[in-house]
Amino acid sequence: MTNSANTAAVRTWFITGATSGIGRELTALALGRGDNVAAAARKADQIRDLAERHPGKLIAIDTDVRDEASVRAAVDRAAAAFGRIDVVANNAGYGLFGAVEEASDVQARALFDTNVFGVLNVLRATLPVLRQQSSGHVLQGSSLYGQTAHPGVGLLAASKYAVEGLTDALVAELAPLGIKVTLIQPGPTSTAFLSNLDLADAIPSYDETVRTTQKAISELPPTAFSTPVRVAEGILAAVDAETPPLRLALGTSSAADMRTALHARLAELDRWADVSNAVDR
Ligand SMILES: NC(=O)c1ccc[n+]([C@@H]2O[C@H](COP(=O)([O-])OP(=O)(O)OC[C@H]3O[C@@H](n4cnc5c(N)ncnc54)[C@H](OP(=O)(O)O)[C@@H]3O)[C@@H](O)[C@H]2O)c1
Repeated sequence: MTNSANTAAVRTWFITGATSGIGRELTALALGRGDNVAAAARKADQIRDLAERHPGKLIAIDTDVRDEASVRAAVDRAAAAFGRIDVVANNAGYGLFGAVEEASDVQARALFDTNVFGVLNVLRATLPVLRQQSSGHVLQGSSLYGQTAHPGVGLLAASKYAVEGLTDALVAELAPLGIKVTLIQPGPTSTAFLSNLDLADAIPSYDETVRTTQKAISELPPTAFSTPVRVAEGILAAVDAETPPLRLALGTSSAADMRTALHARLAELDRWADVSNAVDR
């Protein structure tokens, strides 16, 4: 780890999607080091064990991130219970698999309702608290697919690219107010994510691309997946850092695939520089 100056103080976390996968492990790690957690969750019973193990440190608040009023109520409860919010983990999300053309309008809008508008609901509800404190750290749930995409993940990538785009502006808006921001970019991680995937109806023209990719993903060995606890440990490292990264790739394949995509993008920018520059007056 490069720096780790902020480990001593007890923090209060507001974590969405805290009942399973990465969010649950993050909740458990935070509680394990003595922090407080307000868990915005739809299935509170899934973290009852953590609440019993850490009395007074965890409150589970029934929250659907798509519902702005429910998010605001959850943030009010968290702030009332713990007096402050130090870390906001905008973690709730799910995936949609299918060709861009295959995804229905209903599926595409539902995905954005959670993965993008849910993130905005959480930001609008929590940032007044963080601005009032002049401190805090926002963790934005992105993905490998926030930087690159392949057949079948177009809509999922669109939702994560949206989060990345707004976060590139957000970080500069919040820095002068004392608030840090980090995009969390896991690669394949062994959670309920794949079993919770929404699947688009297949159009045979995409069998060679989308279905072939889908089959390859379904045949990945367990070693191709990070564990959610390791991903949560990586997130904790960013939260503890004096100077956290804006983007944090989690998993070697995630980092490698993003590196390949970024190099290809730069190379193309260079290849077409003459045309780009010729457009100037
Ligand atoms: N696993 C991966 O391979 C991977 C890779 C890159 C990025 N990610 C990202 O990591 C984040 C966490 O996913 P995960 O892998 O831990 O999957 P997960 O185990 O399926 O957890 C997703 C969590 O999000 C919650 N959620 C979904 N929709 C919600 C809503 N409308 N309101 C409130 N909560 C909602 C779920 O709650 P319910 O149980 O109530 O539905 C669940 O707790 C997601 O943003 C995902 O895109 C995952």
